[in-house]
Amino acid sequence: MRPRRVAVVTGTGTGIGKTWLTVELARHLRACGLAVAARKPVQSYASSTATDAHLLAAATGEDLLRVCPRHRWYAVPMAPPMAASVLGLAPPERGQLLDEVKASWAVPRADIALVEGAGAVASPLAADCDTTDIARGLGADIAVVVAHPGLGTINDVRLATRALAPVPVVVFLNRFDPDEKLHALNRAWLADVDGLAVATSVEEVAVHVEDAGKRGP
Ligand SMILES: Nc1ncnc2c1ncn2[C@@H]1O[C@H](COP(=O)(O)OP(=O)(O)O)[C@@H](O)[C@H]1O
Ligand SMILES: [Mg+2]
Repeated sequence: MRPRRVAVVTGTGTGIGKTWLTVELARHLRACGLAVAARKPVQSYASSTATDAHLLAAATGEDLLRVCPRHRWYAVPMAPPMAASVLGLAPPERGQLLDEVKASWAVPRADIALVEGAGAVASPLAADCDTTDIARGLGADIAVVVAHPGLGTINDVRLATRALAPVPVVVFLNRFDPDEKLHALNRAWLADVDGLAVATSVEEVAVHVEDAGKRGP
């Protein structure tokens, strides 16, 4: 059953903090009494001991293979469709990933699902799609764009949020330091000039995710 809210977690770069934020968000939302699901539609990695799916499953208490089905694990640190090809496997396709995520929703219905992409917003997840296509295809209520707070972030965030349209966005400035003048100015610019929802803490992101969409009771 589709969770009441579906949030796609993506970012302006690889290694920007998507899994870190998803884990912290899941823990926080669960501590608030909400039922949380996490999904990683596809993953590629260098070491299989603590993949994103392991970290997400540990954070939500779900079965590892419900978070990311075993046939979507590619043990090569390249974009998933490239990793699949290198391994001699058929690259995943958009429709397959969307069907697998939709079929994975559990009963009873979760309050919030956090779906982590791979790489950055426009990195290939499948032969024919990136995270923006997954967000639209799932009818995501919101996308969380994890970004760095420093020089160049306005460009990165603008490109990312435009690519995600029409999915509503909250920007999370990871490792934000309020004492850094540039961080504070970037935050203000994104919020005041660009009119974006900007968060600098897990708790603030959680409020935006809970309020997103308002699809269900
Ligand atoms: N705010 C943070 N505080 C502490 N560690 C962080 C933070 N953000 C990211 N990290 C760490 O940085 C590394 C890369 O982050 P990760 O969440 O794996 O990135 P991504 O999922 O976007 O590839 C991980 O070791 C992660 O734990
Ligand atoms: Mg990750």
